[in-house]
Amino acid sequence: MTADHAAPPDAPWVWLDGELLPAVGRHLSVFDRGFQLGDGVFETLRARGGHVTELDEHLARLHHSAAGLGIPLAADADAVIRAGIAGILRANGLDGPSADASVRITVSRGPFRGRGLLPVGEPVRPSMAIQTWPVMPPPADHLERGLHLIASRLRRDPESPIAALKTTSRADYVYARLEARHAGADDALFLTLDGHLSEATSANLFLVRDGELATPALACAILPGTTRSWLLGWASTVGLRPAEGWLTTRDLLDADEAFLCSSVAGVLPVTRFEGEAIGEGTPGPWTAKARAAREAFIRGES
Ligand SMILES: Cc1ncc(COP(=O)(O)O)c(C=O)c1O
Repeated sequence: MTADHAAPPDAPWVWLDGELLPAVGRHLSVFDRGFQLGDGVFETLRARGGHVTELDEHLARLHHSAAGLGIPLAADADAVIRAGIAGILRANGLDGPSADASVRITVSRGPFRGRGLLPVGEPVRPSMAIQTWPVMPPPADHLERGLHLIASRLRRDPESPIAALKTTSRADYVYARLEARHAGADDALFLTLDGHLSEATSANLFLVRDGELATPALACAILPGTTRSWLLGWASTVGLRPAEGWLTTRDLLDADEAFLCSSVAGVLPVTRFEGEAIGEGTPGPWTAKARAAREAFIRGES
């Protein structure tokens, strides 16, 4: 028997096309276009106590990404996904009151027997998978010392029609993460073709400066993050002016504070860029407030 990937003991089940399957084992056809070409879309969400944060927003983005690649989603896809998430959280024991889970929904175009970028033949049903993992708290030094970012050599094209889609073609992001690792940094920032700030490999970027909470505009080849939207709304409730625009690496270095944000990791301080300190070079008070407020929201406390 061929050796399988070891399944994490804390997530023994996966959900695939309506069925719960043991995580250990082979699941998809080798012809699946997600495997062959990264021809798919995905979402990553956070579920606390079995409650999924901003599920409607994630489903809307999943539909937008799928439509962008012409992957047809069934009319009942949302209901199927909602039931699938509830089922896999339960099966993996991640639906209890203190459970904290990340949930990934992946949809590929499905298994086409033909080869080529646009194979002819029978339309096939997209493959849909849902996986969960327990959320681990960030390493203490990420919160205490903050992240060190470098600029990726890969640039983002703001005119690209797929820049804002959450596709499974993630080679650029993996490459950028490797660049960061080789440089001894925590993550890489993408810049646009003309050198403006875009986003990190799996998070949006915010700067705090002079009472303003600034972030690259949607036009800067970013994923329209759900946490980003929430933070822009939160800013005005705490007396920060939300601002979206074209920001430079100089703006980043001159900021009082900087942080990254995403659904699963929440808010994480960024204190160095390309070896230079941002602000005081230590995590700042607004970053801590943003993190605490977002975590409270995820726990359903606000
Ligand atoms: C490239 C990229 N940007 C931004 C984000 C943040 O998006 P969200 O806040 O919806 O998780 C992610 C999330 O994984 C991402 O992969």
